[in-house]
Amino acid sequence: MNFNIVCIPGDGIGPEIVAEAKKVLNKIAEKYGHNIAYKDILMGGASIDVYGEPLTDEAIKVAKAADAVLLGSIGGNASTSPWYRIAPELRPEAGLLKLRKTLNLFANLRPAYLYEELQEACPLRENVVSDGFDMIIVRELTGGLYFGERSTREINGILTALDTLSYTEKEIRRIAVKGFETAMKRRKKVTSVDKVNVLDSSRLWRKVVEDVARDYPEVSLEHMIVDNCAMQLVKNPKQFDVILTENMFGDILSDEASMITGSIGMLPSASLNDTKFGVYEPSGGSAPDIAGKGIANPIAAILSAAMMLRYSFDLENEAGEIETAVKQVLSEGYRTVDIFPQDKSQYGVVKQVDTETMGSLIAEHI
Ligand code: IPM
Ligand code: MG
Repeated sequence: MNFNIVCIPGDGIGPEIVAEAKKVLNKIAEKYGHNIAYKDILMGGASIDVYGEPLTDEAIKVAKAADAVLLGSIGGNASTSPWYRIAPELRPEAGLLKLRKTLNLFANLRPAYLYEELQEACPLRENVVSDGFDMIIVRELTGGLYFGERSTREINGILTALDTLSYTEKEIRRIAVKGFETAMKRRKKVTSVDKVNVLDSSRLWRKVVEDVARDYPEVSLEHMIVDNCAMQLVKNPKQFDVILTENMFGDILSDEASMITGSIGMLPSASLNDTKFGVYEPSGGSAPDIAGKGIANPIAAILSAAMMLRYSFDLENEAGEIETAVKQVLSEGYRTVDIFPQDKSQYGVVKQVDTETMGSLIAEHI
């Protein structure tokens, strides 16, 4: 197969981890006889530095023409970086939101899985996670608070900030369908998360999700209120299969889910529209504090590349091979610093490696 992949290395640790994901993709391509053409575009702070805006229309055009996009991360330190002294709509994050909205990437899939090898990196007590967990968060990505009308102005002499949370029935239906379709390929359970006791948007959410559920009689549906879900994630994460939720709740819950896998550096994600096109990116941020040190964990980026092969190119074998390689390298005891056990005497032989070595080890196992 020939693929055209656009890479957005971005800011912070982005370029370092994207380089490792490419290393692994190239190994797959070599082994299975695929041809990959890469093209880089700028987004986030990297684009602000050159063009004064976080994502140009020209860059979007290039992304749109690709088969898939591999993204590192964007953004910097909000209190020290000059990127945060300009208008909000020109800051790094605005580029990412523009990319999601213009490419209609309404479905964000974030799988959170506890590797046996990383049980010691999980901050939860052993008896809570002794049987592991395996869930996927299906997050709505182009609606809700992120894209509602917003402003800050003086009303009657009082400075007032406004953010708007709205959802249409259509927006809820298409992400719900994605959630149920995802569940059909897994353990057939959907937990729909809302704040139905307070928000109108949640009341509509629940109604539409129930309606969609009628088309999936094999899938069991439960509703959960978001604050309870935050609690259940640390109390009993094993209960979840598919968590279906709106944009802001999904943002928060996916960080929580990533942390219990051991590190936010482990969590990949796929942002999809209703074609085969997708943007694949680690769920974690740009980690400006560790950028350039060569210590970032590239696994989330590498697993995002595996999701790309699965969702955009239907290459299940190749995707599975990357996932197996990651597992093997972990079981051989290699760890980046974020997943390195604090008390290593307890856990047999473990070896701390840098970003590049982790990427090379995973590539060598393919
Ligand atoms: C994420 C990130 C983004 C979000 C930020 C960078 C705008 O936190 O992908 O989860 O809030 O969606
Ligand atoms: Mg987030």
